[in-house]
Amino acid sequence: MKKSILVLALLACVSLVFAQDIKIGGIGPVTGEAATFGISTKNGMMMAVEEWNAKGGVFGGRKVKLIFEDDKGDPAEGATVYTKLIQQDGVVAIVGTVMSKVTLAGAPICQANGIPMISPTSTNEKVTLVGDYIFRACFIDPFQGTVGANFAYNDLKARAAAAIFDLGNDYTKGLAENFKKQFEKLGGKVVAFEGHPSGATDFKAQLTKILQAKPDVIYIPDYYNDVGLIAKQVRELGFKGPLVGGDGWDSPDLVKIGGTAVENGFFTNHYSSEDTRPIVQDFVKKYKAKYGAEPDALAALAYDAMYIMLDAIRRAGTTKGSAIRDALKTTDLNVVSGRVKFDENRNPIKSAVIIEIKNGKPVYRTTVNP
Ligand code: PHE
Repeated sequence: MKKSILVLALLACVSLVFAQDIKIGGIGPVTGEAATFGISTKNGMMMAVEEWNAKGGVFGGRKVKLIFEDDKGDPAEGATVYTKLIQQDGVVAIVGTVMSKVTLAGAPICQANGIPMISPTSTNEKVTLVGDYIFRACFIDPFQGTVGANFAYNDLKARAAAAIFDLGNDYTKGLAENFKKQFEKLGGKVVAFEGHPSGATDFKAQLTKILQAKPDVIYIPDYYNDVGLIAKQVRELGFKGPLVGGDGWDSPDLVKIGGTAVENGFFTNHYSSEDTRPIVQDFVKKYKAKYGAEPDALAALAYDAMYIMLDAIRRAGTTKGSAIRDALKTTDLNVVSGRVKFDENRNPIKSAVIIEIKNGKPVYRTTVNP
């Protein structure tokens, strides 16, 4: 009797000293067509985890062990790493991933396994509709497309718009449609609407058709790599008007690829490092000190998404999937990118910013509330 009490007491002490780490999966495209997205995402997540661990962990002295995987910007690779994190590593939750087309491949895997998941930056509407374990930390594209169309119509005074998008990418296709719907609702005309195959590098055929329709503005809702190339080619073809896009433009490489062709370019985004709120400036300062770079929206949202997930696990006080999911639902948190509370589809309602490319630099123009 005495002996077994002793053993139990000893076990309790040992478990306190060696409180088991909480394994969290992180995913982002660190290589592939949009590698800066993945690098920023990984940096943001690591910074959040370090802060939580320095404060003593999530609950009961349990610290976070982040296991980060590269989805390479590819849906099939994405499905593989989601499965690996859940089945091999035994993560209790996943923060990821970035591109909607890849997140759409991973979300059903999380849902089927009862693993709560939050995407920092996937804006396609369908992502959280996969199921009740799927959350996101960003606004959705019906809002983003509306903001882009309002800006083109009201601020740029465009009346004829064209759009070019990637036929194999849910994000760019969806956002082009969202833009078109709103631009037409405002009374504008979408004079050309051109899809191109994924992986294309020559867009001249689509752009020639677009220019024949004489648009005032061209909407390019794509990732920075394609945007840079499209901008260059459309300028070569003689178009001088404004180019408008979405959050996929957010990369230090946009200007490296597009050069002066992306001047007179504007895009909707989640956050600006020029925001003067103390929580933003504090984050920017810490991030710069740690990584020697200006944090983009991907870094900010990955940091936020990790905070949202760890806050839910702390409140749940357990690593049980259904309990974390329920705690996520009642999130009410002030994070770098704004206040986060989820609606019935597990989407937060957040404002957007408009960024202008000026003299090779992204410059904050305005904030648009939902
Ligand atoms: N919103 C994009 C998508 O859903 C990803 C992205 C977010 C890219 C933020 C850049 C910045 O695919």
